[in-house]
Amino acid sequence: MKKRILTGITTTGTPHIGNYIGAIKPSINLAQESSESFFFLADYHALIKTTDSQSIRASVNDIALAWLSSGLDTNTSFFYRQSDIKEITELSWILTCITAKGLMNRAHAYKAATAENKTDEDKGINMGLFSYPILMATDILIFNSTHVPVGPDQLQHLEMTRDIANRFNHLYKKIFNIPEAIIQDDGKVVPGIDGRKMSKSYNNIIPLLSDEKTLKKSIAKIVTNSLEPGVPKDPNGCNVFNLYSHFSTTEEQSQFKSEYLDGISWGDAKNKLFTKINEELSPIRETFNKLEQDKNLVNDLLDAGAAKVKPFASDMLGEVRELVGISKLG
Ligand code: TRP
Repeated sequence: MKKRILTGITTTGTPHIGNYIGAIKPSINLAQESSESFFFLADYHALIKTTDSQSIRASVNDIALAWLSSGLDTNTSFFYRQSDIKEITELSWILTCITAKGLMNRAHAYKAATAENKTDEDKGINMGLFSYPILMATDILIFNSTHVPVGPDQLQHLEMTRDIANRFNHLYKKIFNIPEAIIQDDGKVVPGIDGRKMSKSYNNIIPLLSDEKTLKKSIAKIVTNSLEPGVPKDPNGCNVFNLYSHFSTTEEQSQFKSEYLDGISWGDAKNKLFTKINEELSPIRETFNKLEQDKNLVNDLLDAGAAKVKPFASDMLGEVRELVGISKLG
C-alpha cells in the first residue's frame, strides 16, 4: 500500500515554534519522501477551545501562511481546511455511534480537564472536548492515512484512532486502514519560555512569524536559574539549551555544552539561541512577508485544496453509509 501521511494543526492562536518543530517542519520533510501527504487546518477542533470567531479566522490564515512560508508545496501535497470537507463531520457522527464511551473517558485531555475541577468534575467541559478523539480519528480515517506525524501528547489519540478503526472494521467490513503514528525527535517536547510544553493554553509561546525584535524579546523571557556569569551551568533540563537542541546539530550542541560548563552568562546563552533560531526563521519570515501581501492567496489555495481532497472523502463516506444502512432503499 502507498504511504499516505496526514497531519493537522488546531487553529487557535498564532503559530509558534513548537508547531514548527513538532509538526510543520518534520511533515514537510516527510512529504518530500512520501508518496502522498495531506496537511490540514483543524478548525472544527478549534471550536472546542474558543467561541471567539474572529480569532479562529485569524488563526486559520496565520497557520496556513506558516505552512506555506515553511515550504509546503501545494502542487505536490494536499492542503485543506477541515470544515470545508463536510464529509468529515458526517463520518464523525457515524464513528461516534460505534465508539465506547469508556474509551473517551480515558482520554488524557478530558481527564486532565476533569482533574482540575474540584466539586463538579465536568464543570466547563463541553462535549466537543469529550469526543475530540473521535473527530481526530475521522480526520485520519476518512482519507485512509497510513502514517500520522504527531507530537508525543497526541499518541493516545492515535491509539484511539486505531481502536475505532478496528471496531468499525470488525462490526461492518474492513475498510479503514490502521494508521501508525510517527513521533518526532524521539518524543522530545519543545519547551515554552516557562519550561512547560510550548502551547497557547500555557501562554508560553515563542511566535514563528514575528519580526526579529519580537523573537529576541520572547527569547529574553525564557526562564533560567539565577546563576551568575562565570559559574558553571548544567545544560540538562535548561530551557535555553533544550530549545537550542531542536535547531542545531550534535556538534553544535557539544560546543554549547562546553560553554555552559565554562560558565557562559544567561545573556550570552540567549543571544546564541536567538542567532540560531533566527538563522532558520529568517527565510521563512521573508517568504511570509511576501505571501501575506496577497489577500486572496490563502482562500484560493484552500478552495483548490478542498476540491482536490473532497472526492476521496466522499468515496469513503459513501461506502460507510452503505455499510451502516444510511443509504438508498431497495
Ligand atoms: N489534535 C491535534 C493537535 O491538537 C490536531 C489534529 C486534529 C490532528 N486532527 C488531527 C493531528 C489528525 C493529526 C491528525 O495537535
